[in-house]
Amino acid sequence: MSTEVVAPAPEARTVPFYRTLTRYARDPVRAFEEAGKQANGELVRLNMGPFKPYLVTHPDHVQHVLRINWSNYVREGMFWDPLKPLLGDGILSDGTGWQESRKILQPLFTAKYVDSLTERMAEILTEQIQETIRPGERFNVVTAVSQIVHPTIVRLFFGDKISRDDIAQLVPAYDTAVTSKAIRLVLPFVPGKVPLPGDKAFERSVKTINEVAYARISEIRSRANDDRDVVSFVCRARNHEIGEIGAKKIRDDIVAMHGASTETSATALTWVWVALDAYPDVAARVYEEIDRVVGGDPISPAHLPELRYLRMFINELLRLYPAGWLLPRMAVKDDVIGGVKIKAGSTVMISSYLTHRLPEFWDRPLVFDPERFAPENEERRNRYAYFPFGGGPHQCLGQHLFMMEALLLVGGILSRFRPVVHTSVPVTPRLASSLRPNQNFEMTLVPVERA
Ligand code: HEM
Repeated sequence: MSTEVVAPAPEARTVPFYRTLTRYARDPVRAFEEAGKQANGELVRLNMGPFKPYLVTHPDHVQHVLRINWSNYVREGMFWDPLKPLLGDGILSDGTGWQESRKILQPLFTAKYVDSLTERMAEILTEQIQETIRPGERFNVVTAVSQIVHPTIVRLFFGDKISRDDIAQLVPAYDTAVTSKAIRLVLPFVPGKVPLPGDKAFERSVKTINEVAYARISEIRSRANDDRDVVSFVCRARNHEIGEIGAKKIRDDIVAMHGASTETSATALTWVWVALDAYPDVAARVYEEIDRVVGGDPISPAHLPELRYLRMFINELLRLYPAGWLLPRMAVKDDVIGGVKIKAGSTVMISSYLTHRLPEFWDRPLVFDPERFAPENEERRNRYAYFPFGGGPHQCLGQHLFMMEALLLVGGILSRFRPVVHTSVPVTPRLASSLRPNQNFEMTLVPVERA
């Protein structure tokens, strides 16, 4: 038997994050970027005074947390707990509630089912674009994209079982619910019991969401149907769950999935216009491809396989602006990652935003270059150097659906219009649970002249 004594793993280096946050008080995402540079792939602790989360950015360490030892890193703690009344105990939680929901929802996201939704999605998107955008007139991009994406997903999920009035209530309520807790991201050590600005707005919006969701769920459950919409599917899958417990489980599945799908998609699709404006050479290639593949026809699912460059563009967009940019976890037991000790009960923060900008894994990381995602360049990459949709057992279920949505929306708009963005200062990310732009910038869509 070996008598060798193994030395305990050393503590992680601490980065004085509080000072950086104070320096970039108006731009906390920039403070994270600075901390990422100081860490340079090393696993560090961010000193935020009473709170010192670990910051995990190296792809091998990300893989450890998301996949290899994933069950030790749960979605609980000071980042997740305040959102519990919105997200519930299903697909965006952990443990048995999550496991059950994942099993129920997974069949909804097979390529076959998603493809069957694509036709309907193309129709709804076309209607929403026509309703929202007046060609030749300036409009607010953040609001317009949300007004297109949000009802599209709601209508796709609920089928014809949701009224315009319900949608008009749900959309702003979700928007408030996912943004009103942002302040807790920079003050995560403030206990939930201590009120902060935004708490009341959060409670009101959750109440509105619950009222609409429970009413529709109750209607759908009361009459058996074999409709293909997502809510009917979930109700059928849970028809052995009865009474209030069943209704709550269905509500948690629907509301959490709704939250996971709309905020991320709308945020990602807002950055499209910023990138097209900032990179005219890339934009010219996108326009050329759409003109060639779609031309003046209404966009349809049949065009999508041919939109190869647009797909690469969207992948690069999600590299520099990953909507789900911060994935917090809580360590259940002590662990060691990359030779560094992780203490039980502490917060571990994974940030795709920082990993996607590491110079060790990305050549010229700040340059927007869709060629990185050309098929011949994809294989050389470390799997966890790029994870806009997370990884391991919690990997995003909507990845394929999002790509369909992005190609249909961007291809549908650009086959008819050229965007002119109006900004006086660069659009940069601002701190929220998703990576939103820091300003409500405007744009005009100019109709494309076709011979
Ligand atoms: C740009 C669009 C999207 C991005 C960037 C994104 C990103 C992510 C990320 C990073 C996760 C992992 C969360 C974690 O590990 O804690 C996730 C999970 C999830 N996403 Fe997405 N997502 C997008 C669109 C969608 C869409 C359209 C849907 C559904 C229609 C969806 C449904 C889900 C669900 C249900 C989960 C939870 C999976 C689980 O924990 O088992 N997402 N997403």
